[in-house]
Amino acid sequence: MDDRPTDETLPEHVAANREAWDRYAVEYIEPGHRAWAHDEPTWGIWGVPESELHLLPDDLDGKDAIELGCGTAYVSAWLARRGARPVGIDNSPAQLATARRFQEEFDLEFPVHLGNAEATPFRDASFDVAISEYGAALWADPYAWIPEAARLLRPGGQLVFLTNGLILQLCVEELVADDPAKAALQRPLFGMHRTVWPDDTAVEFHLPHGEWIRLLREHGFEIERLVEIQAPADAIDSAQYSHVTADWARQWPSEEAWIARKRG
Ligand SMILES: C[S@@+](CC[C@H](N)C(=O)[O-])C[C@H]1O[C@@H](n2cnc3c(N)ncnc32)[C@H](O)[C@@H]1O
Repeated sequence: MDDRPTDETLPEHVAANREAWDRYAVEYIEPGHRAWAHDEPTWGIWGVPESELHLLPDDLDGKDAIELGCGTAYVSAWLARRGARPVGIDNSPAQLATARRFQEEFDLEFPVHLGNAEATPFRDASFDVAISEYGAALWADPYAWIPEAARLLRPGGQLVFLTNGLILQLCVEELVADDPAKAALQRPLFGMHRTVWPDDTAVEFHLPHGEWIRLLREHGFEIERLVEIQAPADAIDSAQYSHVTADWARQWPSEEAWIARKRG
């Protein structure tokens, strides 16, 4: 697959995030490798095991799955090892280069494409599962990627996505080192959508829960679960992410996962 930049005109936030993620990619090699090496999925900053959260569909055997913002593609690797046929799409050539290296190292091949999860090249109703762990879920515009996920899924197909907890987003003042989430609200909920942190160029997206529910239902999804993820009792502060402490995340959900099903 050829990942050289094309002449396509990317939306401004997608172009900014491509440039940012090509820069961040080097920091994701080591954690990506660790996740590829694990057969049992663990989720998010605190590595909570799948056996506790049950985010993946029970029966993945023979299912067509799309990972929206696959990064180093360890989630797709977990799906493939459970019998699914994953396809990854990601906006960063550097992240995809890592994914391809890991595919070779772990001898597990599946297609990974360079592209924007908000407007993919795949046919309508061609997947049974759409999943995103901090991929499109955080870095793509929900008003574009949720309709796209709905288009890609077959009736009865499942959408699973994990992103920052709503309350965490409200309690972080500035995403800078040594200034983790506070125990008090720092920013308004109303109007939340697009965030660019000071001294950064990457664009994140967050919605209030009511707006996620409205948007998902508008695009034909029934919401099955909203999983508010708690850091385990023995969790320690992350060496990679300084915007939240383990102590904070034992009290409030720093991460949340949505599980929805496309109406039949
Ligand atoms: C934190 S990584 C998550 C992926 C994976 N779970 C991992 O940790 O490697 C975020 C990924 O989202 C990708 N991304 C950001 N915006 C995207 C978009 N509009 N379409 C597809 N991928 C996107 C980035 O390139 C990056 O690889």
